[in-house]
Amino acid sequence: MPVKSMEDLFIHTLKDIYYAEKQILKNLPKMAKQAKSPELKQAFEKHREETEGQIERLEKVFETCEVAARGVRCEAMDGILAEAKDVMEEVEDESVREAGMLAAAQTVEHYEISRYGTLIAWAQRLGMKEAQSLLQQNLDEEKRTDQLLTKIAEQSINQKAKA
Ligand SMILES: [Fe+2]
Repeated sequence: MPVKSMEDLFIHTLKDIYYAEKQILKNLPKMAKQAKSPELKQAFEKHREETEGQIERLEKVFETCEVAARGVRCEAMDGILAEAKDVMEEVEDESVREAGMLAAAQTVEHYEISRYGTLIAWAQRLGMKEAQSLLQQNLDEEKRTDQLLTKIAEQSINQKAKA
């Protein structure tokens, strides 16, 4: 798709985060299954459910733009998730692996927070009120997830991981 205007760029970025959310949805069950710490497992399971809702909100944003909901490959998210997979497969020590998985999950959240922040600013500029509010709801959830992961890291995972 040629990007010529702010509207085009908005749609392109929307497709990027839509793809990213779908990849995350696919990967979270694997991460939840691998997680040994009950807090981390629960955080991944909860965020899987939230991600389903986030995808639905993104589909509504596509609707408000009268554009078919379709993703466009996001190399950044593919890379982050490939690294998460490496950690899950290659780190033998359980507590160290948990610390690595948690860090990967936070990288995912930070990517999403950055994307949603940008999309919200552009939606505001383009006068897309409904899209702005839907995207804001996704951003708020990502920020809460990020905070929860920080808490789990500080209170348990990083304590347990061997020096
Ligand atoms: Fe998300």
